[in-house]
Amino acid sequence: MDYITLNNGVKMPQLGYGVYQTPVEDTERCVLDAIKIGYRSFDTAQAYGNEAGVGVAIAKSGLPREEFFITTKIWITNAGYEKAKASIEQSLKALQTDYIDLLLIHQPFGDYYGSYRAMEEAYEAGKVRAIGVSNFYPDRFLDIEHFAKIKPAVNQIETHVFQQQKVAKEYLQKYNTQIMSWGPLAEGRNDFFNNETLKEIGAKYGKSVAQVGLKFLLQNGVVIIPKSTHVERMEENFNLYDFELSAEDMKRIEELDTGNSVFFSHYDPATVEWFMSIL
Ligand SMILES: NC(=O)c1ccc[n+]([C@@H]2O[C@H](COP(=O)([O-])OP(=O)(O)OC[C@H]3O[C@@H](n4cnc5c(N)ncnc54)[C@H](OP(=O)(O)O)[C@@H]3O)[C@@H](O)[C@H]2O)c1
Repeated sequence: MDYITLNNGVKMPQLGYGVYQTPVEDTERCVLDAIKIGYRSFDTAQAYGNEAGVGVAIAKSGLPREEFFITTKIWITNAGYEKAKASIEQSLKALQTDYIDLLLIHQPFGDYYGSYRAMEEAYEAGKVRAIGVSNFYPDRFLDIEHFAKIKPAVNQIETHVFQQQKVAKEYLQKYNTQIMSWGPLAEGRNDFFNNETLKEIGAKYGKSVAQVGLKFLLQNGVVIIPKSTHVERMEENFNLYDFELSAEDMKRIEELDTGNSVFFSHYDPATVEWFMSIL
């Protein structure tokens, strides 16, 4: 397992496990399976409704808390100083922990400056080891980066072979904020798992399409948190350290970049309206 050092010196595993869309009733089992395989970094969110399942699994694992790296995110309905502050306490309780390793603003909507102040306060109180944002496109990222007292350690954004985030990466690097991918397998969209280039490259190394796509991100310095409810896929997504993609293969995969989302764009007013409609 490789570690990334964040802008405040905190070390974070470069490979973790995400639980978006993992049913509440399956989360404990999935996280326990992932722990058995060797995952120590877990990404959840208030909006996923499964923080408690992550907390129970970590407690049941019997391993020391310091071995884990837990990320959670403040949802839009908890935006604003007071609500965010209360929600941090709720997340700590649900996760059965005294501290969160990485706390992110989930979406750049609502009074997220108020949320960020509550996060800075929690950071200074030792309840959170690192703070950051998610889904902040370069414009919003630069804004919060400029005005925040504690600079965002991480920006978690959609990143995979079809959306390599070249522009965002440039700005994140410039301001020493770590890029963290959500949807590292593109959630299978754009026929990811049948991609001919990834298949051909995988055949050379005896690796699957998923493994090639994930390794490409690792070799590009991206933090990844692939999700699967299936044990064999969790293992597949974890076994990434016994091969290295050549410079030539990296170049071929770079060419798969479309520069666009396979989901939605936060620059699109219809996307913003959709987010408002689900609140
Ligand atoms: N900040 C945000 O707004 C945001 C948004 C989305 C996601 N996230 C985070 O990022 C994590 C990962 O993203 P994601 O869950 O959206 O998508 P993902 O990891 O790109 O893809 C997950 C999908 O791929 C399937 N899969 C996983 N490994 C596979 C393999 N080796 N072979 C074939 N199929 C495989 C899974 O199915 P099965 O589960 O059935 O195996 C699931 O349908 C999330 O869990 C969450 O923690 C954050």
